[in-house]
Amino acid sequence: MEISIFGLGYVGCVSLGCLAKNGHRVIGVDVNQFKVDLINKGLPTIVEKDIDNIISEEFKRGKITATVFAEEAVLNSEVSILCVGTPSSPQGHLNLSYIYKTAEQIGEALAKKDSFHVVIIRSTVMPGTNKKIGEIIENSSGKKRGVAFSVVSNPEFLREGSAVKDYYNPAVTVIGGDHELALKKVASIYEELDAPIEITDIEVAEIIKYVNNSFHALKITFANEVGNICKALEIDSHHVMQIFCKDTHLNISPAYFKPGFAYGGSCLPKDLMGMVTLAHDHYLLSPVLNAIHDSNENQKRLAFEIIQRTGKKKIALMGLSFKEGTDDLRYSPSVDLAEKMIGKGYSLSIYDKNVHLSKLVGANKQFIDEHLPHLSDLITNDPMEAIESADIILINHKNFDGHKYKSALSQKSAVIDLVRIEDLENLPNYHGLCW
Ligand SMILES: NC(=O)c1ccc[n+]([C@@H]2O[C@H](COP(=O)([O-])OP(=O)(O)OC[C@H]3O[C@@H](n4cnc5c(N)ncnc54)[C@H](O)[C@@H]3O)[C@@H](O)[C@H]2O)c1
Repeated sequence: MEISIFGLGYVGCVSLGCLAKNGHRVIGVDVNQFKVDLINKGLPTIVEKDIDNIISEEFKRGKITATVFAEEAVLNSEVSILCVGTPSSPQGHLNLSYIYKTAEQIGEALAKKDSFHVVIIRSTVMPGTNKKIGEIIENSSGKKRGVAFSVVSNPEFLREGSAVKDYYNPAVTVIGGDHELALKKVASIYEELDAPIEITDIEVAEIIKYVNNSFHALKITFANEVGNICKALEIDSHHVMQIFCKDTHLNISPAYFKPGFAYGGSCLPKDLMGMVTLAHDHYLLSPVLNAIHDSNENQKRLAFEIIQRTGKKKIALMGLSFKEGTDDLRYSPSVDLAEKMIGKGYSLSIYDKNVHLSKLVGANKQFIDEHLPHLSDLITNDPMEAIESADIILINHKNFDGHKYKSALSQKSAVIDLVRIEDLENLPNYHGLCW
């Protein structure tokens, strides 16, 4: 394929070399004449393992050239990959001026081109940028998106220092677009790579890089805080984290990664508090660990705000224990929410398959006596009775049978789902907590 690459920095230079090595003819474009001259001498623009050999070999094979002229590159390629810089402003916003300028230049060149062109956004950009770039190209080319060109989001995941290796071994290739042929064309560029290709919505492809990098930053700071606490206790933090990583069921795994309601129960809140207290007792700051509780409380606040916005006061709470399949009410976020609603004058009907007042004993009973002393007046064994008595249905257990109760729920003012019951999502009165 004939490919043009805009921006010959870390991402652009690696893409230039690796795509050429994979058999494509690649034209690099940069506003910086010095970088263009380097490529035209067979030299890389960056210091990065293996890239010097790749650029030199592919240059000799005639697979690589570079120019400062956008038009020349667009007219001689069918795909343009945007790898220009997107630095942050001091306020944390992205400076998209370079990428917008590039889009304008591509549009001007497309005005002189008859064949279909695919623009790939490889730079890291905020959701909404793909659409905006499409508009800029439409304005400067006078042509229509989807007819003369398409804009596809395809974030780059490589890391400096291991960029070539990362380029050839991504965990996944993410491609977001709205034009089937363009998506197929972009996917074909990566078909030699041994990685799954995930074709998705534009906005999903745009945000994923931010989600990935935020999580990577969280991992680093989490491990560092664990390290600080371990050091204070003379425990080998590296050994701890090695063992931590061996748990691929709950630690390094998809477990707990579904957006939803707050955590609760007798272990997570208690043990997190224990860890935070350990840090505090050793005069250590642990801002990441400290923030977890606030974030969890915020999720309960958000659920309550959705309830408030309905303007209705009769609520059926489907699930009271901290998760389905147990009668454990200790530190259940639903108990907190119920307590808050009662305090604010809501009338509540509660159904929970596993919670039978006569069977509650010990700490579980003590907890509920303290927090919801009138639970016996609120609880029913009949889910339909709870639903019929309420205007708002609040679902907090994943095993709720959405299919069975869908018709009854469709009559209600609102169905507020804290756990994402698939069967209910297309109800017009449906509200997901964070989806
Ligand atoms: N560096 C990384 O490890 C990495 C990894 C993944 C994604 N990214 C993202 O990729 C993008 C590029 O990052 P980078 O580190 O390669 O940036 P960089 O600053 O090294 O390179 C950007 C290049 O774009 C050029 N440029 C600016 N305006 C231009 C224009 N109108 N036409 C042509 N070229 C133009 C600049 O001269 C520069 O050479 C950013 O959005 C970044 O967030 C970077």
